[in-house]
Amino acid sequence: MSKARLYSGMQPSADSLQIGNYIGALMQWRDLQESYDAFFSVVDLHALTQPNDPAELRAKTRRTAAQYIAAGIEPAKSTLYVQSQVPAHAELAWILSTITGFGEASRMTQFKDKSSRYGTDGTNVGLFTYPILMAADILLYQADIVPVGDDQKQHVELTRDLAERFNSRYGDTFRVPMPMIQQDTARIYDLQNPTAKMSKSAESDAGVLWLLDDPAKSAKKIMRAVTDSEGVVRYDRDAKPGVSNLLVIYAALTGRQIPSIEDEYAGRGYGDFKKGLAEVVVNEFGPVRERALALLDDPAELDRVLARNADKAASVANGTLDAVYDRMGLLRRS
Ligand code: TYM
Repeated sequence: MSKARLYSGMQPSADSLQIGNYIGALMQWRDLQESYDAFFSVVDLHALTQPNDPAELRAKTRRTAAQYIAAGIEPAKSTLYVQSQVPAHAELAWILSTITGFGEASRMTQFKDKSSRYGTDGTNVGLFTYPILMAADILLYQADIVPVGDDQKQHVELTRDLAERFNSRYGDTFRVPMPMIQQDTARIYDLQNPTAKMSKSAESDAGVLWLLDDPAKSAKKIMRAVTDSEGVVRYDRDAKPGVSNLLVIYAALTGRQIPSIEDEYAGRGYGDFKKGLAEVVVNEFGPVRERALALLDDPAELDRVLARNADKAASVANGTLDAVYDRMGLLRRS
């Protein structure tokens, strides 16, 4: 039997991925690529919804791809490619926008957050249609599952709704995908503001752990992470969000259970615990960082790998797009 399909992606919106991307997504991707026919994209078209310097966007796109590979995504096994190299994404996004309700798109919480932060004049239409492009990404590949952090769940639900709507109007065309969300690591929080999601676009750098940062800098950020005055290493998301977040990171990176970590640090202070975590993070990130930087030393080879995989992706995507055009009654070239 052929393997089930998996689709996921990340925006090249910073020079480095952050630890939430790594724990909430990349670690799962690495494991899942063994049992799924996996497609992983660097979604550069999505990144255009924020202002970008062109040379920087190109660099960030390569850096994101290099981090996927450095973290264990194997481009010979999984289809790792750059979204804009497969034109079908933008084409299907247009098609899907014609079956999306204005109100439906207006209810997306990420859009609502951003538009309330920047106002309607500071918000571009691309941000509004962003989830439709994401739906196009997923549906083009007939994905069965979409592993993401919980901030993307609503977008995958919209994708399901659009797939079902299209199928019922035009006949069975899209597979209806399922989100896959690892509950305990679905959300890694900012080290300085442990009730806010850690994000590549955080206002302050002090709360974000970057995969490609100098290890000494990451260690320092962990030592300065916000905790509480109780002094006990104990998981309690409501009363102790800072310590709980650090425990989740510790457990995710070591594969250990939280109670065993609590036991290890029983009767010891936060200083010891943070030192232990800093060691775990530096040990995990160090080799990833080195591999990523080595890959970036040979951008021509990286570009060739990405181009090969874009061809593989396009052959799947174009098949779906053709069927969509045909079902909708767009006159095909003979
Ligand atoms: P992006 O680039 O914001 O994030 C990439 C992945 O990392 C997860 N993530 C987190 N997980 C846990 N804790 C955090 N603090 C944290 N921050 C980010 C995200 O949930 C995501 O899985 N719209 C998507 C990109 C996208 C996509 C797709 C994803 C475009 N098309 C198709 C899946 C399928 C995004 O902005 O991810």
